[in-house]
Amino acid sequence: MLKGFVFDLDGVITDTAQYHYEAWKRVAEEETGIVIDESVNEQLKGLSRMDSLNTILKFGHKEEAYTDTEKAVMASEKNDYYLKLIQNMTPADILPGMKEFLEAVKAAGYQTAIASASKNAPAIIERLGLIRDFDGIVDPTLLRHGKPDPEIFERAAALINLDNSEVVGMEDAAAGIAGINAAGQFSVGIGDPRILEDADLIFRSTNEVDLGAIEAVFNTKDN
Ligand code: G6P
Ligand code: MG
Repeated sequence: MLKGFVFDLDGVITDTAQYHYEAWKRVAEEETGIVIDESVNEQLKGLSRMDSLNTILKFGHKEEAYTDTEKAVMASEKNDYYLKLIQNMTPADILPGMKEFLEAVKAAGYQTAIASASKNAPAIIERLGLIRDFDGIVDPTLLRHGKPDPEIFERAAALINLDNSEVVGMEDAAAGIAGINAAGQFSVGIGDPRILEDADLIFRSTNEVDLGAIEAVFNTKDN
């Protein structure tokens, strides 16, 4: 039986994906000369800060070129740029339809948790005015493995005392859908169906996300 929802943050609740991209693009070009485009960015979605940097360096064939200390400096520089980009976020930055969806989810009595790899997630949720809409936020610093590993989604379900089979996971990234599926949760993808093809149910945009449709398909799969 469906009892709760686990949400990715970036690209699902708010569009910080673009800010992560801008910040990485700048650091990559300034520090390594590697030029990334949208297709590289697609692979970064859902990855931790250091996994993102390693993916960029690999793309530029420079994975062995920097020490751990140099990489830590680059990651911290990226975060400084990112923090500047998100500093003016307000509730107006909630993606279209998601405030209403969260309200419908809470009104129906479901539990909610955030499964974001971002260390900035609590601050962003606060700025969006959504801190009361979530019953739990996974602390990404405790994770042993990043997405596509299921760990973050399993921890999110545990935080709200639910079994994986009772949970819907919502994601905009292929790595996230893989993690939700590996956790044994019902996966809802938001975005391009070609990228999210492994999801149990896909909506093209947050505008289209519909609680009734999710419940209907979840129950079909359940029985
Ligand atoms: C999310 C985003 C990733 C980002 C990660 C870490 O999963 O989709 O693009 O790299 O969070 O974010 P942080 O704010 O900790 O650098
Ligand atoms: Mg995301």
